[in-house]
Amino acid sequence: MTLKSGVAHWGSLAKFFHWTVVLLLLVQGTLGLIMVNLPKKPNVIPLFTFHKSLGLTILLFAILRLLWRAFDRRPQEPASMPRSQVVGARIGHALLYTLLFAVPLSGWLFDSASSLRPLFWWNVVQIPSLTGGKDDAIKAFAENAHEWLFWSLFLVAAGHAAAALVHHFFNRDDVLRRMLPGRRTSVDRIG
Ligand code: HEM
Ligand code: HEM
Repeated sequence: MTLKSGVAHWGSLAKFFHWTVVLLLLVQGTLGLIMVNLPKKPNVIPLFTFHKSLGLTILLFAILRLLWRAFDRRPQEPASMPRSQVVGARIGHALLYTLLFAVPLSGWLFDSASSLRPLFWWNVVQIPSLTGGKDDAIKAFAENAHEWLFWSLFLVAAGHAAAALVHHFFNRDDVLRRMLPGRRTSVDRIG
């Protein structure tokens, strides 16, 4: 297992970022959908506080992941993949990265514009307000944006996961295998 990615495999750090973010997003999305449907009583505040800290953690992971990607290489697509599919996959990945930033940023903007109480990351680090105080117009915009951006992320990620499964079960190439934890690709085994 190597930290850096190669021509035909993803490195362990890229895999760690990918699967940790998938897991955190599953918890975060489920929690978000549950908490907004609970009766607005004081006992739901800790859930919102947890959601905000976890959301900021996902944003931090997105930043670290892109920073690492700037130093790392990315494996080549299989030679059998048509150009149109390569371009489609690249556009999909760019969209996923954009949404990974846009979803938590819109949540942060909503929190700032609501100006209910100071925002803390895991009760320790105080996070600055993006609006400098209450702003009802931004609040309404950000609340809508947060929900729609989340559903966009959900749809693009579902399409992305389906594409990975098509690679594995129909094209029978290494695209999924080389992203799975601890696995080596057939190219690595030969090499
Ligand atoms: C990738 C990270 C995030 C995901 C996937 C996510 C997901 C969600 C979802 C699915 C909802 C329910 C939307 C609805 O049905 O109305 C929600 C609501 C909410 N989120 Fe996030 N969220 C993230 C990050 C954040 C961050 C960083 C903050 C604040 C710092 C935040 C603050 C909120 C708040 C305050 C609500 C309640 C909105 C309302 O009352 O209508 N979220 N989030
Ligand atoms: C919320 C869910 C997900 C997000 C946000 C996400 C995001 C991404 C991104 C941004 C990349 C591009 C990596 C890069 O070029 O730097 C990627 C690659 C990849 N993802 Fe996901 N992913 C998600 C879920 C999944 C799932 C469920 C699967 C498997 C079923 C999967 C399989 C893959 C594979 C195989 C690659 C490598 C593609 C290649 O080698 O060209 N992803 N993912």
